[in-house]
Amino acid sequence: MLEINNVRVTFPNGVEALKNISLKAQAGEVIAIIGRSGAGKSTLLRTINGLQPVSSGTIRLDGEEITAMNAAQIRKARRYIGFVWQEYNLVERVSAMTNVLTGRLAYNSGIGSLLGYFDRSHRAIALKNLERVGLLHRAQNRADRLSGGEKQRVAIARAISQEPKILLADEPVASLDPELSVQVMSDLARVAREIGVLTLINIHQVELALQFCDRIIGIAQGVVEYDGEPAGLTADVLDRIYRFDRPTGVKLPDQAVLLSV
Ligand SMILES: Nc1ncnc2c1ncn2[C@@H]1O[C@H](COP(=O)(O)OP(=O)(O)O)[C@@H](O)[C@H]1O
Ligand SMILES: [Mg+2]
Repeated sequence: MLEINNVRVTFPNGVEALKNISLKAQAGEVIAIIGRSGAGKSTLLRTINGLQPVSSGTIRLDGEEITAMNAAQIRKARRYIGFVWQEYNLVERVSAMTNVLTGRLAYNSGIGSLLGYFDRSHRAIALKNLERVGLLHRAQNRADRLSGGEKQRVAIARAISQEPKILLADEPVASLDPELSVQVMSDLARVAREIGVLTLINIHQVELALQFCDRIIGIAQGVVEYDGEPAGLTADVLDRIYRFDRPTGVKLPDQAVLLSV
């Protein structure tokens, strides 16, 4: 379980990126975090994996307090935190399989890691996860030969190969065209549900959030403006999240289509 209590992040330049954020989430939930650019979405994910220290408040993952850890403890804890980036962050010159195997590094024995050797059990997990994202046939292809959609699916396979307690994705489809965005979001949500991992996805396409996630958290200026089911995301709520600068043409759950304001 993830428990965030009264988290604030104030940057040295005085920007208050997160103001008193509190939320709880359970294994198996697939949650979209929406909000306009600068709302604090990336900062929130970065506090959860310890990349961004908090100014006050606490974050616990399965009872362990991430906000109380030192650098070495955070490095260790990150074994259980899968991360998917907008720009994939693959090692371009090696195979899809080798990229996915890097998700097993923390579990590999010292000498195995040094030699880049992964035994049968690690390879079986990597292959299973390539299969989950529909890329078994690409296992031996170099990452730089893959399409954007395939790269992001390799990144998803790598992240779940960590057997994470939580999977964090920061704008995972922002570099993909609309058709591939649907495909990759669909794969991400399906795989997350198959393995039952708590998943937080920062995403700016409200329609994809509504289509694929069970819960929506809307953030505006560092504050949670909405936290609930997709069905509760009314025009008023969207206006609060987007501060009257909401995306146009979004089909809301009641199928009403918002026009430009
Ligand atoms: N390292 C930083 N130093 C100062 N301000 C930052 C830093 N990172 C982010 N910010 C500011 O914090 C706010 C939240 O940013 P961010 O979390 O990246 O928003 P989002 O991901 O929702 O676009 C923005 O005003 C941004 O300019
Ligand atoms: Mg961001």
